[in-house]
Amino acid sequence: MNNIYLIDTHAHIDMSQDVNETIINAQNNGVKKIIIPSVEEEFFEKIIQIAEANENIFCQLGLYPSEALKWSDSIANKIKLLAKSKKVVAIGEIGLDYYWDKTYVEEQKKMFKDQIILANELNLPIVVHDREAHKDSIDIVKEYNKTSEVVFHCFSGSVEMMRECVKNNWYIALGGVVTFKNAKKMKEVAQEVPLEKLLLETDSPYLTPVPYRGKENQPAYIKYVAEEIANLRNQSVEDIIKITTENAERVFRI
Ligand code: NI
Repeated sequence: MNNIYLIDTHAHIDMSQDVNETIINAQNNGVKKIIIPSVEEEFFEKIIQIAEANENIFCQLGLYPSEALKWSDSIANKIKLLAKSKKVVAIGEIGLDYYWDKTYVEEQKKMFKDQIILANELNLPIVVHDREAHKDSIDIVKEYNKTSEVVFHCFSGSVEMMRECVKNNWYIALGGVVTFKNAKKMKEVAQEVPLEKLLLETDSPYLTPVPYRGKENQPAYIKYVAEEIANLRNQSVEDIIKITTENAERVFRI
């Protein structure tokens, strides 16, 4: 593993107990680049600060579905302004979460559409959070996205849904859940997804992979995701890392 390195395309390292230690651990475990998604407006500045202080750290701006009631033109304008930083490489994580709440479906949809249009305007990829909202997520991206690259982060759909995403030229990002013994559907997706459409992520500090379940997750653990996918596909871990890293660099232009 001399010349190859990993990229964690989705890690909330701003939420780590010790951000600096998390970054150093990542570097010591072959993770060269990290992309921090945003969730709430309150975190925007902190995330950009972390990215600006570290050559190989980048970020996404956007509001998470559970923030739907806070969405406003002024937040959209703030994203536009902050996105001038070269460190902002995507709009995310944005989408629909019907597991969280079904009361505000319309508000969630409105915010999702607005942020897709914003991403198109800013010429940035979108990173989709879809939890128990597969059909609506696909329909909205199809209808409103014209020009942005699309990543389904923490993909939780079926093989059929993965195929539909790939047909639309979208990317599938898989994380620690693929290492869970009972994650049958996701293991199937990992076996079937075309490698040129696959991205790796941790979604840390959540969803810690085996063998560290129960501990705080961190980008350093992304190698367990790569190893599990390599085993499932009967391919070398070097190939999985090399190609997913190229994919990430292409999609996010990093
Ligand atoms: Ni996330």
